[in-house]
Amino acid sequence: MTSVIEKTIRKAVTPAIQAVASLNRTRLQSEDANPFLHGVHEPLREEHTLTELAVTGAIPAELDGRYVRIGPNPHGSAGRGHHWFLGDGMVHGVRLRDGRAEWYRNRFIRSRDLEAKGGPAAVGGPRRGFGDTVNTNVLDIGGKIMALVEASSFPVELDGGLDSVAYSDFGGGLTGSFTAHPHRCPRTGEFHAICYEGTSQDTIRHVAMDASGKVLRETPIKVRNGPSIHDCALTENFVVILDLPVTFSMSALIAGHRFPYRWNREHRARVGLLPRGASGDAVVWHEVDPCYVFHVGNSFEDETGQVIIDLCAYETIFDGEMPGPYGKALGLERWTVDGKGGKVVRTTLDPAGQEFPRPDERFFAGDYRYLWTMGMPEDGDLEFVAPMPLYRHDLATGERVQRDFGEGRIPGEFVFVPRSEDAAEGDGWVMGYVIDRNRRTSTLEILDAMSLDLVASVQIPHLIPPGFHGNWITAS
Ligand SMILES: [Fe+2]
Repeated sequence: MTSVIEKTIRKAVTPAIQAVASLNRTRLQSEDANPFLHGVHEPLREEHTLTELAVTGAIPAELDGRYVRIGPNPHGSAGRGHHWFLGDGMVHGVRLRDGRAEWYRNRFIRSRDLEAKGGPAAVGGPRRGFGDTVNTNVLDIGGKIMALVEASSFPVELDGGLDSVAYSDFGGGLTGSFTAHPHRCPRTGEFHAICYEGTSQDTIRHVAMDASGKVLRETPIKVRNGPSIHDCALTENFVVILDLPVTFSMSALIAGHRFPYRWNREHRARVGLLPRGASGDAVVWHEVDPCYVFHVGNSFEDETGQVIIDLCAYETIFDGEMPGPYGKALGLERWTVDGKGGKVVRTTLDPAGQEFPRPDERFFAGDYRYLWTMGMPEDGDLEFVAPMPLYRHDLATGERVQRDFGEGRIPGEFVFVPRSEDAAEGDGWVMGYVIDRNRRTSTLEILDAMSLDLVASVQIPHLIPPGFHGNWITAS
């Protein structure tokens, strides 16, 4: 009965809120003043298929697959109050085979939102939520290339040439929003995700899928204030929930902001441990000092059964009216969770600002040694990205190897690719895009994962705007 009343109220109230928000939006930041629409963030207007790619160095013959990264790339007018996180999705990929770079392609995600703005025709498949923009991660799930977003739309399946095929609810198994960061358990092959959305402020969902992408179960978990939970962690026995003080903000929505999440001093920061397979009321919560975390590097249980989480933290984020994720970066931290409800112990592993932590994914959710991160200005930057180094951390020795890319060259996330399926941890390469902001060109750089020495570089004759996440998707 409550849900019927709620739905009735929502039906009546939502158009009124939208009308007020539209009016208020006319006072928000203009496109001209928005740093996420200009300079390095200037959107690409064309879709390219380039087959004559200049390469320096030697592309390892073992690499047979696609490096694919996605990010926001607004089509046409983004309007006042645009937020970086909400731009239309565009994938950028390079196909590597037999030591060659066969092609580079960039493709818009074929959403109805894009079509409505005069873009290419939308693909079919089930829709849900507010809008169908998908722009945050690209992952191999059950042998399919899936583009993902949190909090609203279903994912989109892409073909081998990176064209959108159709939206997908995983064969009807997904009943609500998904996440950009499902994590695959190397031991079971299962994927685990924590999913939230603004219209459901008292409940989040744990979604478990098998290796083929079939949804095994959805577990509701009670929360307060509609927290924005970008990533989760996984250990042998637990799914780790980061319930931190960025929550849904009705006042931001009414003020016209399309991204209605804000730092919330009233929200109690906590970390939940959900035993894998248990119901939502089995979560054990642990208080943590307020901060925000977009991304977990890795997590595992130590010999005493405590949960260890390595992550990149911020003092605050979204604290005010901003077109992007501004906040003081606190560096790489290690959190220890006792599993019994005690306060989380936070230890700084490296105080330098950094983001996009990636491990050797074969060692995810278990004891591990190496982590790669992208450097960040500690006090943020108007463009979020900057000409910062790439780091490789050895967590066993504390050693940090650093690669600088040179004047005006800005790296994005780098992902680890093993030399072979049974190679030792960290034996392989890391790859990612680097922008040259002065020449307005880009490269796909393949580095030795241990030394960070350059192995090969694929030249792309235009600037790929800074994006979010990419992965190496093997041809097999
Ligand atoms: Fe992310």
